[in-house]
Amino acid sequence: MANARLEVDEEPLSRAEGLLAEGRFAEVRDALTTLLAEGRSGLMTRMLLARALLGMGEREKALEMAKDTAQIYPGIAAAALSLGETLLAAGKLPLAIAEFQRALRSDPDLVQARFLLGCAWLEAGEAERALSEFARLQAYEPADLLAQKVGEAQTMRQAPRASARYVQHLFDQFSSDYDARMLGSLAYRGPSILRELFALVGAGRDGLDILDLGCGTGLAGAAFADVAARLDGIDLSPQMIAKARARGLYADLAVADIESFLASDGRTYDLILAADTLVYLGDLTPTLVGVRGRLKPGGFFLFTVEKAEGDGFELGPKRRWRHAEDYLRAAAAGADLDLAGLLAASPRNEANMPVDGFAVALCLR
Ligand SMILES: C[S@@+](CC[C@H](N)C(=O)[O-])C[C@H]1O[C@@H](n2cnc3c(N)ncnc32)[C@H](O)[C@@H]1O
Repeated sequence: MANARLEVDEEPLSRAEGLLAEGRFAEVRDALTTLLAEGRSGLMTRMLLARALLGMGEREKALEMAKDTAQIYPGIAAAALSLGETLLAAGKLPLAIAEFQRALRSDPDLVQARFLLGCAWLEAGEAERALSEFARLQAYEPADLLAQKVGEAQTMRQAPRASARYVQHLFDQFSSDYDARMLGSLAYRGPSILRELFALVGAGRDGLDILDLGCGTGLAGAAFADVAARLDGIDLSPQMIAKARARGLYADLAVADIESFLASDGRTYDLILAADTLVYLGDLTPTLVGVRGRLKPGGFFLFTVEKAEGDGFELGPKRRWRHAEDYLRAAAAGADLDLAGLLAASPRNEANMPVDGFAVALCLR
């Protein structure tokens, strides 16, 4: 079998499927390319060829093939499914989701399209949407793969923070007009609120090593650049990091998750900022403990949050976490950080109304 060739006269397509299952992508590619060149190809040949190219890591060629095929067979659910599968493998989530939805509009019973749509939502950190697609599958083979994906989505739904994938996906998409929307309709004022808080707790200090958590496009960094000797930033979204880099203010910028970044060994700072970032984290303990390890003695952690009415923290309708004042005080004490200031402040508007929140300054003795 190892050197078996795909002969066009021995049911080439079912044979191609067998070879694909064995991971023998190059043989399938060569044989189906020949079929195509001879003009003896149809939808199935093209779909299998796209899958073989994908298996070989030739994503661009696979995408080209799947796109052509979807154009040649516009109303065929299987062609949209094939394109969605290729887009998903290429990490182009919004486009992949649109293709799976298109496939399901043509054929609502196309099981693989529904499964992959659920997987794509999961990839995007949208646990509820993933679970709703998985729930609509009567049966799926292999059943243990479906069970694993359902388990991942349930874990994600229960986590006391936004998933890294959700945040990355959200802000990669938001990055192109982030500044205009934040400073326009949302009247965002997180950085200036933190600057005012800094004037109260850290008056006169400059030449500071500063770390900007969830730096986004760099609005908070820009507000503190004049007191920085060094400004570093981290963010989950590569597109937001690219915008921050373009400002030319940051020494080091990294695509990283706040909790894991802070937990790793590294430079310590005089000032750590998190402007409108902790709204994507519910349980703040890992972050505060991590901040403690990255502050120099006498250093400050300044952040904004949105206000929860009860106690503890809760998820708001916009999928942003809110934190109660008592919780903030207790979490700071639990991480052995002193509360240097806590002000009622509204970092932004929602539907033209100020959102209630807090600006908090913690200090490492
Ligand atoms: C509303 S924006 C604020 C950006 C910036 N601080 C500002 O003031 O404009 C929130 C940012 O936090 C980032 N973010 C959210 N959760 C994160 C996490 N766990 N780790 C790293 N970055 C995160 C997002 O990618 C996004 O860029």
